This record gives sequence, C-alpha cells and structure tokens, in this order.
Amino acid sequence: MLKKVKPTGEFATLTVGGQQIQLPIVIGSEGERGIDVAELRKKTGCVTLDPSFMNTASCCSEVTFIDGERGILRYRGYPIEELVRKVSFVDTAYLLVHGALPSPGEKRKFSQLLTANSLLHEDMRHFFDHFPRGAHPMHILGTMINALSTFYPNVDLLSMLDDIDLSTARLISTVRTMAAFAYKKSIGDPVVYPRHDLSYCANFLYMMFDSPIKPYVIRPEAVDILNLLLILHADHEQNCSTTAVRTLGSAQVNLYATISAGISALSGPLHGGANQAVIDMLKHIQREGSVKKCIAKAKDKDDPFRLMGFGHRVYKTFDPRAKIIKEECHKFLKAMHVDDSLLEVAMELEDITLRDEYFIERKLYPNVDFYSGIIYRALGIPENMFTVIFALGRLPGWIAHWKEMIGAHTKITRPRQIYVGETLKHL
Ligand code: SDX
Repeated sequence: MLKKVKPTGEFATLTVGGQQIQLPIVIGSEGERGIDVAELRKKTGCVTLDPSFMNTASCCSEVTFIDGERGILRYRGYPIEELVRKVSFVDTAYLLVHGALPSPGEKRKFSQLLTANSLLHEDMRHFFDHFPRGAHPMHILGTMINALSTFYPNVDLLSMLDDIDLSTARLISTVRTMAAFAYKKSIGDPVVYPRHDLSYCANFLYMMFDSPIKPYVIRPEAVDILNLLLILHADHEQNCSTTAVRTLGSAQVNLYATISAGISALSGPLHGGANQAVIDMLKHIQREGSVKKCIAKAKDKDDPFRLMGFGHRVYKTFDPRAKIIKEECHKFLKAMHVDDSLLEVAMELEDITLRDEYFIERKLYPNVDFYSGIIYRALGIPENMFTVIFALGRLPGWIAHWKEMIGAHTKITRPRQIYVGETLKHL
C-alpha cells in the first residue's frame, strides 16, 4: 500500500471573498511540503489554476526522488551515482518495479523470464514487413507495443498485476526485440533473433548489429556503457510521458496500451526526442561554423529555437545524469578509439553557455540528452534510434508508476479547467 504524506499540523490560511479557510500543509519523506487543496472547491467554489502543472503535485509516489536545486536523483532511495557503478539495468528495473533490489533467486527467476519472453510472436514479426521504409522507429515501437494487447489477451488489470514479473519481463524483453527489429527493417537487413546465452544489453547490441555476412563482436565496454545509459534513463518521477502513463492507467487502460501512450509522449522533441535533436543541432553548428550564432538564436525571444539538450523543468543546476554521461562519453570514445568532432562542438557550446548571463539567470544547464547522442553514435546506433534507446531505459519506470497508481486505487485522472469561451447564446 502506498505510504501517505504526513500532516505537519500547520495550515495555509486562504481568504476568499471575505471567507477564511485553513488548508493543511503536508510533508513527504524528503521534506517536500505541499498544500493539500482537496477541500478547496467544496469550501470556496474555487479551483487552482496551474497550466503545465508548474507548481502542482499530481500524486504521492515512492518510486523516484529528485531534488532539482541540488541535482539529486534517487531510485527507491538509491543514488543513481551508486546504481550505475554497482548494479545492472536488469537489477535497476527490478528495483523500480518491486521497490527492492532482487535477491540472487529473484534475479535468476527474473532473468529467466526475460530470456523466455525475448522472442516476438512470429505473426507480429510479419508486421514489420508492412511498415513503410522511412517509418520512424518510435512510431513503429508504439504501434507494436499496442498490438501486444491483441496477442496477449489477458491484459485486464488483475492478470497483469497477478503476475507483474511476467508482464514486466514480457514488456522489457519484447520491446528490446521490437526495437532491434525496427532498426533492421529500416536498413533492409534480415532481423537477428535474440540469444538465450547473452545478457540484456549484450543481446540488444547483438540483435542490432550482427549480420549473416559479418558477425558482431560484442565489446564489454559497449555492453557496460549501454547498461549505464539505460539505468540513467530508467525513471524520472512525474515527467511528461510518465504523467501520460499514470493518466491512462487511472482509467484502467491495459499496461501495453498505456506504455504505447508513454512512447508517444516521449517521442516529442521537447521530451525524449531531444537527444536526436541535439545531434542535428551540433551538426548544424558544425556546418555553420558558429556556436555563437546558435546561442544568439536560442536567446532571441522572437525565435522559437531552443538549445536542444539544455534546460529542465525540475533541474536548476547540472542534471546529475548529464554529469555522469559527459564523463563516460570521454572515457568510452577513448576506449573505442573514436574521434567524434561533435564532442568538441558540444564542449564549446557548453563552455560558452555556462558563462552566458541568459543561461545563468534562467538556470539552464545541459540535461540528460546533451551528451547521450554522442555515445550512441560511437556505439553505431543511428540517430532515429536514439529516442528508442531512451524508451528502452524508461520502460521499468513507466511500469513502476503504472503499478503504483493501480495499486493505490486512485480515482480516474480528470483535472478541472477555467472556461474562457463564449457565454450562453442561442441559434
Ligand atoms: C527530458 O521532465 C523530465 O524529467 C524530462 C526528462 C526525463 O528524464 O523524463 O528529464 C527528459 O525531457 C529532458 C529535456 C529535454 N528537452 C530539451 O533539451 C529541449 C530543450 N529544452 C527546453 O525546451 C526546456 O528547457 C524544457 C522543455 C526542457 C523545460 O521547459 P520549461 O520548464 O517549460 O522552461 P520554460 O519554457 O519555462 O523556460 C524558462 C525560460 C524561458 O525564458 P523566459 O521566457 O523566462 O525569458 O528559459 C528559457 C525559456 O525561453 N529556456 C530556454 C531553453 N529552455 C528554457 N532558452 C533557450 N534554450 C533552451 N533550451
């Protein structure tokens, strides 16, 4: 059962139309305080107005804690800096969904489930033959995940919750296969089936890059960096796509259709699509030969252009994930003897912005997407697959939030509004 926020015994006093009401102030386990407005409309007839939820907590959650001012990110209490050094992405997925790291026996069972569910239903594989060549892999992925509801009919909530390990493993494993198949389809290559003897990340790289004419050599450095990136993308509390997942889940939509909605939300260029947009931006700067011109555009109020990979709704300091990715990016490119000129462009862009008053004043720093694309390029992953990798990472987070929300028996999500349209008129 989800833990409740604690009352502080303090109240916010609100005076509306001469009437004074007291709204309880509640506190979370990390000291975050909130004004509980559950009684507001009943007592005052007013609703709160907070477009984009800049100041609104939509729920209580035990999954992930972020402190945007101090650059802290923890999954179930564990700092990401420790998770990336000590456990695998599969351990992290289990931690997010179950709230604790797996025992050796639980890990064995979960890994066996991942292997047993790594194959796609053969009839689903034929779907790939009918997507047009230029179809974006994120659109293919969202379609295929939704189609899982037709192939695995026992998607009602009880069945999904009844064996959450199976539901989780099937999604995390099948989606990895779908992602690799989508890539192979996009380059006209035959698909490569998963192997039972490879780890989660090694299997993905194998399915992506092995070919009948040129076997893929699985480098430990490549497996390690992919593990690290998937862990860093695994959850991020109430971001846009997770909010979409929780909203659909509140209507008791089945898990596959709910995750498909998360994929759609993540594909937006302001959200998960930013990693692909960063590379486009860096290439554009390289062609133009001017970082300063790009920064001027980003600062121009009349220009909708934003610096991709910069800024964040919550982090008002360096995104802790970006710090780790930047450090690992240098190490990985050196280990793989890759020299990517876009890294120099990124470093110059970061250096100038961090000293520019516009960015300092607005607390705009590199976010998770700023350096990740450079690592994906060094892995050989094409740009239209970058957000797919983000989605692979985010899957356990979405599942954890879906499970938490369903388990808390919350009401259907249905915000209010302030109507500003035409008043009553007659035909
Ligand atoms: C992700 O929510 C999450 O947790 C998401 C995520 C996750 O793990 O799920 O962390 C993943 O989505 C990371 C963000 C990836 N997107 C980008 O890198 C796209 C570029 N970033 C911006 O679009 C923007 O920073 C957002 C969307 C990330 C955040 O936007 P906000 O919180 O709505 O910020 P805002 O628009 O209110 O900006 C405040 C000010 C504005 O200037 P003023 O009107 O005050 O003068 O900062 C400016 C903005 O114009 N600004 C930028 C900017 N980001 C904000 N100016 C130039 N370049 C930018 N990138």
